[in-house]
Amino acid sequence: MNYYVMTLFPEMIQQGMNTSIIGRAMAKGLLSLETVNIRDYSVTGNGRIDDYPYGGGAGMVMQAEPVYRAYEALREKIGSKPRLIYLTPQGKVFNQKMAEEFAKEEDLIFLCGHYEGIDERVLEEIATDFVSIGDYVLTGGELPSMVMMDSIARMVPGVLSNQESGQFESFQGNLLEYPQYSRPEEWRGKIVPPVLLSGHHGNVDRWRRNQSILRTLRSRPELLLEVDFDKKDRKFLQSLVRGEAEETITEEEKSFLAKLLAF
Ligand code: ADE
Repeated sequence: MNYYVMTLFPEMIQQGMNTSIIGRAMAKGLLSLETVNIRDYSVTGNGRIDDYPYGGGAGMVMQAEPVYRAYEALREKIGSKPRLIYLTPQGKVFNQKMAEEFAKEEDLIFLCGHYEGIDERVLEEIATDFVSIGDYVLTGGELPSMVMMDSIARMVPGVLSNQESGQFESFQGNLLEYPQYSRPEEWRGKIVPPVLLSGHHGNVDRWRRNQSILRTLRSRPELLLEVDFDKKDRKFLQSLVRGEAEETITEEEKSFLAKLLAF
């Protein structure tokens, strides 16, 4: 996977991407990262790349031409026309499925905006994807591009070791991950759930699956609409609704589950 980032702050991207698993993958040659400083393509010669918005209003707009020139230079260098992702709160909200899709590409270009945005005309010419990382506004596209590059990289074969790829599986099958525990068995009076010490793999798996369902119900109930429940899952869900399970849920959660089970 080759990442290219068009930005006004290349050092921010380079520093942010050089550590941990991503840094290791770059050292191994599984990933590459190149930054392009849009300011180098200023048309005024003084490094200015923004101007006032037509129609008035607060803030400045990044001009079309420097962005276009930076893109053209990059495209010539790459020799193909990769997907170009523009990071914007107006885009489609990023998720795990999109990360898996983007991971199939050989090259990806990220375009980071600043100020009040980028002249729409150049976006129409070069952007193939408009992506937001969530419903909040940041000062620029650099952090969102790094969030995307991190999660896409995890999906590139070889980036995670076998051990690592078994971890962090929240969103596998649309369920959040179950809680984890390590030594000691008792910490400040709190014990590890006894089933995890039982050595009974079947019971451990069942407990973890139930905890995943419970967590998803409590934090992200809408994800449950897309889950394929088996017979044992349904039994657990029913026991929650009837108040027969060890774990208790709220009345609101009960009525949500009752409707879900009716389908
Ligand atoms: N730029 C500013 N805020 C953003 C967000 N939430 N997602 C993507 N790009 C952004």
